[in-house]
Amino acid sequence: MNSRIAVVPGSFDPPTLGHLDVIRRAASLYDQLHVLVVHNPGKEAMLPIAQRLTLLEQSIAESGIEGDVIVASWSMGLLVDYATDVDAGVLVKGIRSQVDVAYETPMAIVNRHLAHVETVFLLPDPAHALVSSSLVRQVASLGGDVSPFVPAAVARFLDTGAHQG
Ligand code: PNS
Repeated sequence: MNSRIAVVPGSFDPPTLGHLDVIRRAASLYDQLHVLVVHNPGKEAMLPIAQRLTLLEQSIAESGIEGDVIVASWSMGLLVDYATDVDAGVLVKGIRSQVDVAYETPMAIVNRHLAHVETVFLLPDPAHALVSSSLVRQVASLGGDVSPFVPAAVARFLDTGAHQG
């Protein structure tokens, strides 16, 4: 496993400014970064995976993030199977609070046991510390303005109401 190749996994439903902050910083830390949309069976999705991929690609392009950044999705099994396939030795996660620490710690331990993949936690920029996809989903579903919390591409998409089918 190559410790210069990292994966930023998540539901990204939808991508937020907090996600983009983690992606930007991880892209500057590693030689190659895979931003991976993973289906989380524990969460009811708002957006199809293909739409999340499009929004991530647009958001990364528009934010001028530099480096070798690959956007992909994974629904074939374990996250570490994808990491092994692309030779990534590191998973990068954003940690906003003790709640995130409690949620992420068991996953980090399991992933290291499964495939010797290390998890690196990045602390958020304080400006994004309280932003979550679930909050954005709720505000958007009730017709509120989510533009302070999401990349412009996501705000444009949610504004059209296209996600409400
Ligand atoms: O953005 P999320 O929903 O907090 O992301 C969670 C995610 C998708 C990264 C997590 O559920 C995950 O890693 N799922 C893949 C399945 C897996 O590998 N499970 C076993 C190790 S935790």
